[in-house]
Amino acid sequence: MSGMSGDQKRPIHLPVLLREVIQQLDLSPGLVVVDGTVGAGGHSEHILRKIGTEGTLIGLDRDTMMLEFAREKLGVERLPEGQCHLRQASYAELPTVLGEIGLTSIDRVLLDLGLSSDQLGDDERGFGFESSGELDLRFDTSTGMPAWELLQTRSESELCEIFEVYGEERFSQRIASQLVKQRKTAPIKTAAELIKVVQQAIPAKALAAARKNPATRVFQALRIAANQELEQLETMLGSVLPEVLKPGGRAAIISFHSLEDRMVKQAFKDRTIWKNLTPKPIVATQAEQRVNPRCRTAKLRVAMKT
Ligand SMILES: C[S@@+](CC[C@H](N)C(=O)[O-])C[C@H]1O[C@@H](n2cnc3c(N)ncnc32)[C@H](O)[C@@H]1O
Repeated sequence: MSGMSGDQKRPIHLPVLLREVIQQLDLSPGLVVVDGTVGAGGHSEHILRKIGTEGTLIGLDRDTMMLEFAREKLGVERLPEGQCHLRQASYAELPTVLGEIGLTSIDRVLLDLGLSSDQLGDDERGFGFESSGELDLRFDTSTGMPAWELLQTRSESELCEIFEVYGEERFSQRIASQLVKQRKTAPIKTAAELIKVVQQAIPAKALAAARKNPATRVFQALRIAANQELEQLETMLGSVLPEVLKPGGRAAIISFHSLEDRMVKQAFKDRTIWKNLTPKPIVATQAEQRVNPRCRTAKLRVAMKT
């Protein structure tokens, strides 16, 4: 399986804001906790310890590769029956999953949004700049449209909007126009082909000054579009969480994108549903940022259901 580190075949993703998440969730034995983005189980491993054998953990991920990592890390086969349920689903489908397990409400929810470092290493889906496979960028390849198909079928103005809104890319128009010109002769199917088009579209001065791969924002935008990430979060915040969280229950959400953070902040402002526990988002300490650069943009917001 890809997405593993070298010969060791182990997940490499480090859970972000781990200490803060565990503290803010205020866990105790017997609670029912949902990790809506279980990934490699980095947070869930600690959640399980805190809720003990009387507790229940429900771990969701859209990506079956990540669920395999989690199954291994959490040692699901060795746990008492019913203590841990792992399911391939979007967190927005939580009410259906709960129904299947025979539950209607829960005590805690964690969402750690976005992409896992392990997915970056999955050559087959094009998440990493070095990937040689098709530029798919979906967490669940059985639904929706791969990114390369979006690039082939969306109009120039739609592509421009995707790059501008989801990627906050300042050269959106130039990139969209270059892509549309390029695809007339051959579809853009791989990470390398996309990076080349982006390099051609960006002014030479900006390209020379770029401190990261110039296609970073375009990749992020396409991933968000291919997975309908903001729509999933909107459903979760708007209807799912208010419906399934018990009064006094807590939701902790880590976002890496300003649009997501704004959505969470807005939702938690609604005092008819939430008591906001983090007027300012919690960010990673300097020490954590040194060990795990990925956490530099992480923002944790927590609220209690009224
Ligand atoms: C940042 S990782 C989570 C890492 C995890 N907390 C850990 O420490 O191991 C985000 C995970 O969320 C998954 N994901 C993204 N959107 C999702 C959604 N709508 N529903 C369920 N899982 C989702 C991704 O496939 C990825 O595995």
